[in-house]
Amino acid sequence: MKTVPRVLGKLALIVVGLLLVGTLFVYSGFYDVAATTRHAKPVEQILRVVMMRSVVAHARNIKVPANFDPQNRALAEGAAGHYELMCRTCHGAPGKKPEPWQLYPAAPDLADALRTMQWSDSEVFWIIKNGIKDTGMSAFGGSHDDEELWALTAFVRQMETTTPDRYRALMERPAIKEGPAREGQPHASEPAQAHKH
Ligand code: HEC
Repeated sequence: MKTVPRVLGKLALIVVGLLLVGTLFVYSGFYDVAATTRHAKPVEQILRVVMMRSVVAHARNIKVPANFDPQNRALAEGAAGHYELMCRTCHGAPGKKPEPWQLYPAAPDLADALRTMQWSDSEVFWIIKNGIKDTGMSAFGGSHDDEELWALTAFVRQMETTTPDRYRALMERPAIKEGPAREGQPHASEPAQAHKH
């Protein structure tokens, strides 16, 4: 039975070797973190699956409000200004391109992403609220309450059926043209007594 300790000794050597190589790799600066080069295909695929499974698991406990209707036009249109300001630069909008910044992973065209990824309403809500680590996808939960986030969720859901003309018309509305609410200030459409100076 001398072979068991011998095998264990070899295993320990392999583990120590791997740790050394790993440490060298981390500190050498060898890995290219530029957004202009891609991870190896398997790494890319693993990261994507990790992201998808994480969103599905974390969104499980989110309760969709009983009166939430993802196809409610008025609800979605209330969030159009927020979308233009906070999302369009990266994701684009009906008839509008995103800014030509190179993000990696890329920010998908949402109309397309929702169709192919089949995210549920609560998953879309979770992503907008919490963001996605190590990507450009930021968390909007700190600056927006759940009601605004559900409205954004409805807007994203309706991206596919919002024509460029409709989107342009929404951007022309006075509440949007006058600009977004700044910190501590209400939206142009909200009552003036809410002003704090
Ligand atoms: C600074 C750029 C940036 C901004 C601003 C941004 N996003 Fe994203 N978003 C991303 C990136 C990058 C991804 C892809 C992340 C990934 O693949 O893991 C993403 C992913 C998503 C997804 C998941 C789609 C999918 O299948 O990958 C949704 C939904 C989403 N964003 C909605 C929004 C909404 C709504 C807003 C505005 C409130 C917004 N995003 C603002 C960069 C951005």
